[in-house]
Parts: sequence; structure tokens; C-alpha cells
Amino acid sequence: MKPELAFLESLARQAGEILRAGVNQPFQIDKKGVIDLVTEMDHRSESYILGAIQKQYPTHRIISEEVGLVEGDASHVWYVDPLDGTVNYAHGIPFYTVSIAYAEEGQVRLGIVYDPSRDELYTGEKGSGAWLNGQPIRVSAAQDLDQSLLVTGFPYDIRTHPQKNLDHFTHFSLHSQGVRRLGSAALDLCYVAAGRLDGFWEIRIKSYDIAAGGLIAEEAGARVTKVDGSPDYVTPPCSILAAPPAIHAQMVELLSQTAPVA
Ligand code: IPD
Ligand code: CA
Ligand code: CA
Repeated sequence: MKPELAFLESLARQAGEILRAGVNQPFQIDKKGVIDLVTEMDHRSESYILGAIQKQYPTHRIISEEVGLVEGDASHVWYVDPLDGTVNYAHGIPFYTVSIAYAEEGQVRLGIVYDPSRDELYTGEKGSGAWLNGQPIRVSAAQDLDQSLLVTGFPYDIRTHPQKNLDHFTHFSLHSQGVRRLGSAALDLCYVAAGRLDGFWEIRIKSYDIAAGGLIAEEAGARVTKVDGSPDYVTPPCSILAAPPAIHAQMVELLSQTAPVA
């Protein structure tokens, strides 16, 4: 049986419950890098989700943040971020999410992003639409970058990599209503999809951060590409630019005037 949104919803809600229940409990925090954290709750959420996928679809391939690649049939691929917004979560900031996408023959077909703090469930199905708690969502009607509210994020190797996104951050800060840094790429994309924000970009991002949110944004009317405007943003090396078409064009234009991105 083919995966359906209901299956992804059940995974995301149960994993979200694991995360929500952990918020006021002590949990272990380890470091994957100088500023890159992983908590015990990332692992618990991931074990639950991967166990459930493998039980139902034992031959499928899975790409998940903490375990990496689970080998399997490349024509059925799951992208899992069991806790997107780990730094927020570790600090007790209620802005984190579970993100799960399913791709068939190289195309993301289903995406789900669940925000347990607000009980907001974002869903997207290729060619059918995007929804927030079952209600259709649409990107904003923004036409002018100068009056648009944007969001971005920064990679964990910001201290050592020459391309830090700070040049783009400066440019967009001077040519928009403002730039937010909320700390969850998956939710950033869903906020663009729901019309709360007018554009999101990030460089050196990972496929599991953006596969679900990217589909949801596309289905809500966003144009979603790599930052240079090229398609296949889920294919590494990944970067992302998601915005209503008019804003997307102005963002690509502005990005092309600044230093090239890695
Ligand atoms: C991170 C968040 C953050 C983004 C980073 C991601 P994590 O994911 O989405 O907003 O700026 O690039 O790595 O580590 O919280 O799963
Ligand atoms: Ca992530
Ligand atoms: Ca994560």
C-alpha cells in the first residue's frame, strides 16, 4: 500500500507528543560540533519515526538527521528531521517541529510538519494542495520586497566557512520590512506557506530540513528553488529560496548582486 498523508500525520503527532512531553523534564544534551547540539529527545523522536516507517515499508530508503542514510529502494525515499529547532528546544523556546516527507521516483509527494507547541499540523500533497489543521493555506499576496517580512537561518559551520550568509542577511535587512531568524527551517517554510512570512532563504541546508516544508510551500503557491533560482532544491548540495513568485524574483535578483554562495 502506498504511503498516505494519514500515516505521516500519525507519525508526526506521536513524535511531537514525545517532544512535548520532554519539555519540562531533564534530558541529555550532546554536541555534534561547537554550536551544533543533539538532545536525547532528537534520538527518541527519531527512533519512534524510523521504527514505524521500517515496520510498514521495510524496503524503503530513509534519510534522517541523526542516523543518516538507511539503505533501501531509491525510488521510495523518506526524509526525516525528528526535531527541527534543536537549539530552541534545548533552551526551552517553544519553536520546534517534526518534519517528514516521502518521495517517489525522485519527486517529493507528501510532506508533513507538526508544531507541537501550537498543535499546528501543516500538510502538503503534490498536485493537491497544502493545509494547516485541515484548512487550505496560501502564500501572501506580497508584491514588493521592500515591504516584505523575510526569514533566514545560518549553518552550524558559520565560524569556519567563508560563506556565512551574513552578507545576504545585511542586504535583505536593508531592502525588506525586516528579517527574522526563528530557528526552524521546516517551520520557516510553513510560515511562508501560510502567508505569515513573505520569503525564506538559507544556504548549506540539508534535504531533511526542507523536503516537507518545501513541498508545503510550493503547494501553497510559493516558488521554491535553490538560492540561485535553479530547481531540485532537495538534491545536495542544498540551498533554498521560497517565496510568492513576485518576491522570489526580487530575492534572486538581489542575491545575484552579492557574493556567490557555496
Ligand atoms: C536547523 C534549523 C535552523 C537552520 C539550520 C538547521 P536543527 O536544524 O532548521 O533553523 O538554520 O540550518 O540545521 O539542527 O534544529 O534540526
Ligand atoms: Ca533541521
Ligand atoms: Ca534536527
